Amino acid sequence: MSDLDRHDTIRAVHWRGDRLSLLDQRRLPFEEVFVDCVSAAEVAQAIKDLVVRGAPAIGIAAAWGVVLAARNEFARLDQALAVLRASRPTAVNLMWALDRMQGVGSDPAALAAEAQAIQEEDLAANRRMGELGAALLDGGGVLTHCNTGSLATAGFGTALGVIRSGYGAGRISQVYAGETRPWLQGARLTMYELVRDGIPAQLIADSAAAHLMRSGAVQWVIVGADRIAANGDTANKIGTYQLAIAARHHGVKFMVVAPSSTVDMATPDGAAIEIELRAADELLALGGKRTVVEGAQAWNPVFDVTPATLIDAIVTERGVIRHPDRHAMENLFLSGHD
Ligand code: MRU
Repeated sequence: MSDLDRHDTIRAVHWRGDRLSLLDQRRLPFEEVFVDCVSAAEVAQAIKDLVVRGAPAIGIAAAWGVVLAARNEFARLDQALAVLRASRPTAVNLMWALDRMQGVGSDPAALAAEAQAIQEEDLAANRRMGELGAALLDGGGVLTHCNTGSLATAGFGTALGVIRSGYGAGRISQVYAGETRPWLQGARLTMYELVRDGIPAQLIADSAAAHLMRSGAVQWVIVGADRIAANGDTANKIGTYQLAIAARHHGVKFMVVAPSSTVDMATPDGAAIEIELRAADELLALGGKRTVVEGAQAWNPVFDVTPATLIDAIVTERGVIRHPDRHAMENLFLSGHD
């Protein structure tokens, strides 16, 4: 067992043969409980409610949701696909996984094999991206945002996978994680993964990021993605765009790490990406307790788009694109691959 295997022990999505068990990410880090889903509708609800979240994990869970629908003789597969497809709009891994499942037909065993393949391919892609991304680092500190780790994927993680590999290779000495208001993916989930793995990490308030960059403590910002458009524009967790602006201002490099299932060559640029708006309540309360005066309103977009011009490297399992633009994206994703 390699060091990385020993450390990377969390798995968020478990197929149990007759049901899908999801580690309930709403209750981490203090409670490790699972939610069991026995139908596609239950999986779609779990995706909506953020029981399972993170672009690749959503796609994997949805694939198993299709398997549940196929096993249930009363469920219409096309209805199940539509319900799952509508569960969240921004992460294209969801649509990508459902398209793959749709192409298989309706045989439950064949669908289960496809879902298993999607899950295993994601883990392998993360390991590869970990190596490729870590090779770009040359010591020092990194800042990450949201949660892109084992919890958000089949395992190991995308940006957090690069951090795992980079730390293991001695190319990172210190990690900073933004807390990621309002849902606190950074504080609740990324810190949980980093502390479990013994990687030196400090939590910062999202609003401390520019100040941190000016101090010289970080050389790279490393983030994941929910959808990468054909010109390299990248949708990711709200707050990513302002990190990219601050990074460019301070001479800090900016890396996006995502599997090719996150790349959407049918979407020309970031302006065409649908940004999910979630309930105002997520901003108006903290841990279920109201923090804002009654009668107040809130605007809660949960993703934003970072223009390709602010990205120094996009790392995928197919390779690394430095200074992404449409031409480089087309070279990697439209030529010589499916
Ligand atoms: O709303 P979430 O928690 O699903 O958002 C997750 C992110 O924005 C991640 O950065 C992204 O999905 C990449 S996860 C490997």
